[in-house]
Amino acid sequence: MWSRSEWIVWKAVWYNFGYSYSAANKNMVVNWEEKTLYDYLQNPKKYIPGTKMVFPGLKKPQDRADLISYLKQSTAS
Ligand code: HEM
Repeated sequence: MWSRSEWIVWKAVWYNFGYSYSAANKNMVVNWEEKTLYDYLQNPKKYIPGTKMVFPGLKKPQDRADLISYLKQSTAS
């Protein structure tokens, strides 16, 4: 059984295969690191106005922190 963070990441990866990004996303210049991802995940639509994504984000600070720490762990070499 997948954890909640694993599920979120895989769903995001799956949707983005061969994906055509909105102009809003392409034109957005962001240095993606912990803080920017944390803010983005709180409210993707507010962070990138005009995004096509319906996912409303993770409102609970703990959920965002959990997801980011999961990403850090799973991408550490
Ligand atoms: C770490 C979490 C996630 C990240 C960083 C993320 C990021 C993105 C980005 C950058 C796009 C492209 C949007 C655009 O070009 O305007 C996108 C599209 C999309 N995302 Fe997410 N996403 C995440 C999680 C999710 C989850 C959990 C769902 C579903 C419950 C979801 C559903 C979608 C859908 C349906 C689209 C396509 C929208 C369309 O083409 O109309 N995303 N995502």
